Order: sequence, then C-alpha cells, then structure tokens
Amino acid sequence: METQQETIIQKILNFKFTVRQRLRYHIVMFGIGAIIKIFKMLNNYRKHRKILIKINQYNQARLAKIAGLKINLPNFSQEKLESILNASVSQLKEMLKKNEVTSEDLVNIFSHRCREIGLKEYYCITEFDYERAIEFAKVLDQKRLEDPNIVDSQPLYGVPVSIKDFFDVKGISTSMGCANRLERIQQDDGLTVKLIKISGGIPFVKTNVPQLGMSFETINRIYGRTLNPWDKTRYPGGSSGGEAVCVATRCSPLGVGTDFGGSIRSPASFNGLYGFKPTSGRIPLQVQSMYAPTQRGETIIKTSIGPICKNMDDCILLMEALNHKELLNIKLNEGLLHQLYVPFDKEILYGKNQQKLKIGFLKTLDEFDASLANQRAVQMTVDGLREQGHELVEIQIPNIERLIYIFYQLCSMDGLKGYEHQLGDEDYLEVYKLITIPFYCPAKLKKLIELFLKLTGQKRNYKALSIMKQENTAQDYLIVSDEVQTLKKQVLKYLEDLNIQAIIMPCFTTPALKHNTSAKIGLATSYLYIWNVLNFPAGVVPVTEVRDDEQHYNNTKIKDKMTSVINEEMKGSAKLPVNVQIVTLPNKDELCLNLMKQIDDKFQFYKNRKLPL
Ligand SMILES: *[C@@H]1O[C@H](CO)[C@@H](O)[C@H](O)[C@H]1NC(C)=O
Ligand SMILES: *[C@@H]1O[C@H](CO)[C@@H](O)[C@H](O)[C@H]1NC(C)=O
Ligand SMILES: *[C@@H]1O[C@H](CO)[C@@H](O)[C@H](O)[C@H]1NC(C)=O
Ligand SMILES: *[C@@H]1O[C@H](CO)[C@@H](O)[C@H](O)[C@H]1NC(C)=O
Repeated sequence: METQQETIIQKILNFKFTVRQRLRYHIVMFGIGAIIKIFKMLNNYRKHRKILIKINQYNQARLAKIAGLKINLPNFSQEKLESILNASVSQLKEMLKKNEVTSEDLVNIFSHRCREIGLKEYYCITEFDYERAIEFAKVLDQKRLEDPNIVDSQPLYGVPVSIKDFFDVKGISTSMGCANRLERIQQDDGLTVKLIKISGGIPFVKTNVPQLGMSFETINRIYGRTLNPWDKTRYPGGSSGGEAVCVATRCSPLGVGTDFGGSIRSPASFNGLYGFKPTSGRIPLQVQSMYAPTQRGETIIKTSIGPICKNMDDCILLMEALNHKELLNIKLNEGLLHQLYVPFDKEILYGKNQQKLKIGFLKTLDEFDASLANQRAVQMTVDGLREQGHELVEIQIPNIERLIYIFYQLCSMDGLKGYEHQLGDEDYLEVYKLITIPFYCPAKLKKLIELFLKLTGQKRNYKALSIMKQENTAQDYLIVSDEVQTLKKQVLKYLEDLNIQAIIMPCFTTPALKHNTSAKIGLATSYLYIWNVLNFPAGVVPVTEVRDDEQHYNNTKIKDKMTSVINEEMKGSAKLPVNVQIVTLPNKDELCLNLMKQIDDKFQFYKNRKLPL
C-alpha cells in the first residue's frame, strides 16, 4: 500500500508536460483570456451605448422643456435692453430703486438671452430654474415697491445670478457633466445658493462644467463643448467655464464658481473677466453632493468658492453675499467646515485709507515659462503699481518645483477611484484619456511609459507621471499632508522676512488655447494651483491683449512636446484678453480684492473695449 502511494506521488512529482502539451495549454489559456477581454469590452461598449441613449433621451426632454418656457421678454427699446445687459450690479440696483425695471423683467431679459445665445451658440447653459426665479423675483419686487430703500439693504438685491453646475439647486440635479448623476435631483438648495438668495440674488440658470470638473477645458457628453466667445475655436477655461462664458456673453450679470486648482481663475482669464479665489475656509463650503467619498476625504486642498464678474465692484458685492452676516444664523450642519465667521474689514476692502505696500512680482516660472504677452501683462502691472507709489521687488517662490508636482500627487492619491465611482458606466471623455490611462494600465506598463517619456526628453511629463501612483497607503497620504505644511511654512517665512504683502504674477502660461489640448499641457495651470496648495487668496484682472508680435511660444527655457503644442496654439491669438494674477497672504482677502481694484482702476481694460458680444 505504502509503496503504491509513493509511486503515485512520485509519478505526479516527476510528471512533465511535453513541449506540445505546454504549447497547447498556453494557447488555450490565451484564448480564454482573449475571450474574457473581448466579452468585457463588448459589455463596456454595450453599457456605454446605453449611457449615450440615456443622454440623448434626457436632452430631448430637457431641450423641449426649455423651448416651452414662456419667457415674457418686456417690450423695451433696444437701447434700454443694451443698457441693462451692460449694467453692473450697482447700476441694476439703481434702476430697480427708481422702478425703471422690475426684477421680474431682469429674470426675463437674461433668461431670454441665455436661451437664444448661451444655450444655442456657446453651450454654456445647462439647466433653467425659470419658474422659481420668477416667483422669487415677484416677492422681491413686492417688497421693493413697499420700500425702495430695501434695495440697499442687501448686496445683490433683485439681481439674477448664474450658478455653476457644482452647486446644489433645489429641483435640479447636480450632474457635474456626468450622466450617472442626472437622476440625483436635489431636495434643497445648497448653502451657497441659500446665501445668494439671502443676499437678494436670484439664481436663474445653471452653467456648464467639464465632466466631473477634471479639466480646464469645459466639455461633457450631456451639455456639450462650451465655446470661448472671443474665439470659438478656443476653450473658455474651466472648470467654471460655463459661468465665465455666460458672463462674457452678457447672458448673466454675474456668476459664482469653485476653484480647486484654478477653476475660477482660468476661465475668468480666458474670457477677459474678473475672478477671485478666496482663502478656503473664509467662505463656508457645502460640498456633500459635489464629490465622491475619497474626494471628500481629501482635506489638504480645500475648494474655494468665489465670483466671476465683468467688473471688480460686482466681485466685491458677490463676496459680501457669500460672507453674509446671516451665516451666524445658519445651522452649523449646513456648512461642512465649521469655521468662525470673520466679517470683512470694510476699511481695507473699500480702500478707505490706502497704504503703500511692498509687493513681490515674478514674470515667469522656470518649470513652465509664461508667454510673452503674459509676461508683459506682469511688467505693465508692476510699472503701474510703482507709479502709484508701491514698492515692487522681484521674488522667487521657494521650492517651486516641488509645489508644482505635489499638486499632481495630491489629486491622484486615490488612484482616481473617486472619479471612477462617480462615472459609473460612463467612460472618461476623450480629452481625459491621456491623463487616465496610466492609472488603469498594468504597473509595469506605466513604468515603460515613464521610461519612454524620459528617453524622448519629455522630462516634465515624466516627473508628473512618476509622482502619480496607482496605489497609495494612508501613510503616504499623511506624509504628503505634512510636506504641504512644511512647504507652506517656507513660503510664508520667505515672504514675511522680506515683508512682502502681495504678489503680482502671470494668471496662466498663455491666453485661451485651442480645443482638445488641455490634457497635453496640464502643468501650464501651475501658476494657478500652487495657490490652492498653499491656500493663499488670489484673483485675476484683465490688463491687456495679445499683440501681433506675440503670437508664438518659442522663447522658453524648456523645449519639449508641450512647448511645440503651445507654439502652434499661439498662432491667431492676437487681440485675445490677457489677465494678471494678484495674490496676498492667507486670510488677507480684503487686501487682494482691493489691490485688484487698484490695478483695474489703473488699466480700465473695458474703457475702450467691449465684451465680445
Ligand atoms: C412695443 O413698444 C413699441 C414702442 O414703445 C410699440 O410701438 C409696440 O406696439 C410695442 N409692441 C408690443 C407687442 O406691445
Ligand atoms: C476634438 O476631439 C474630438 C474627439 O477626439 C473630435 O471629434 C473633434 O473633432 C476635435 N475637435 C477639434 C476642434 O479639434
Ligand atoms: C519665434 O517665432 C516667431 C514667429 O514665428 C519668429 O518670428 C521668431 O523669429 C521665432 N524666434 C525664435 C527664437 O525662434
Ligand atoms: C453695451 O455693450 C455692448 C457690447 O460690449 C456694446 O456694443 C454697446 O455699445 C453697449 N451699449 C450700451 C448702451 O452701453
């Protein structure tokens, strides 16, 4: 018995497949693998088809509903209509006070323009909140007729405001350009919308964003591609791209956006508008429906909420609305961050006793040179501020290279699980594929891609890719969190030792760029997102336009694929607006807004220019 068993075991141990058997085995296994792969692909394709059909049905119903809205455009002269479309918030409030127009008229005028131009020509509008807006306008009109001075009691009294799709509005889904989220109809207004209404603003439309806000090119499968009104072949920036185009085309008097990595400042800059990202935490944030769990868990960079406007006074009024003293009476559970309410220092905000400042400036970042026009915008601003008696010194931001790349590391610490969770069966957009592939390919292939980038001299892409890991531990996260604090301390020490109170620098690498290129040049946003990593307030103001002799990008220190892409895109950029960026120390939001206004008073970009339409 024993010997028999031994021989069986021995037989098994000594058994060898013949070469032919082994080959057959591999062919069969390969076949099974391939069949599973094909099956998976077909299944994904089927699911994706279903999503596209769903989007199609949704849009048919949406567009029919919008077409059916009975918008009562008042019978005003063309001149009066124009003066309303062009007016600042204060001018609109003055007209309301004199009863030259009602809030109901305003909702009708701007809704009509949104439907005819915003929705049909620029794809910046997603949903209309028309009935509720009219109802609220009627309430405000009634109160105003009883007491015209009530208009002065609130920063936005009686004025329509467009709302970025990220914010919750009752009765509408916060889709973030993602089909999977279309059914999530909000049961209540979010905190931001509540604050706007408390301040007398009338939310009336929602505006377009890139799919899940992952780009500065505003495009998604539901609402389409938002076009830049200065040049339709270019994108409007993002993720608050719909907001900026809505304001730039005079479809809305003013708008509210969010900024996690430049999402207010890039669209404001690409559209020649004014945009401000406050210190996050200064304005309360309600993000419950905005993000997926792994994104909500990320607390190193906090999203900021702020204005996109066609002048500085409107920006300041919207900031007053978002930092409303009624916050003291709002239930704590409505805001995610239970920070102290800090009222604005009006003396500084409105510059009643203007002090001379020591201001640092930088014209370019070595890791990603700014275009000639963007550098000239900084030089002009520096000269202008010197004329006004401020002291300006050239500075360099300590550890800038690490600051630039750590953002990429931070944004991808969940291995894109948050985006995946939200997307459901929908696929990433084509323009995202380039960024997302490294997270889904086998780790060995990712290493190969890195090697390829290194060997072909694409150092910057190599650095960005190698820093983004497919898997991270909790320890990795805590170490990065600690490093951000250290970087922040170093930058603050550098600035405080020099007694620098503000910084002037480019708003972006370039003016607006051509469609489909955002994924290739993500690092160009570093001018903006470093201030999200450091949590400094920052705003952008238009000061000049691209000159004929600035339509190229061949003067850079680093020459790689990204620079040649941008060099091509700079062709035909003459006359595009060019903004400059103003940054102040954390919590010095009032000073930042005031300095933005000083710069605007100096250059008055719109004195001899018009909005694009
Ligand atoms: C609109 O106003 C103009 C002049 O103020 C008037 O001639 C015209 O009949 C009005 N149209 C309607 C439809 O009320
Ligand atoms: C952008 O890319 C999409 C998809 O790859 C393509 O269909 C479209 O024509 C491109 N648009 C432009 C303006 O290049
Ligand atoms: C950069 O491009 C412009 C326009 O094509 C050209 O005039 C200029 O000579 C180029 N400069 C360099 C350094 O190649
Ligand atoms: C309003 O602005 C538009 C476009 O910027 C301009 O063409 C028009 O002359 C302005 N009209 C008034 C009344 O200010």
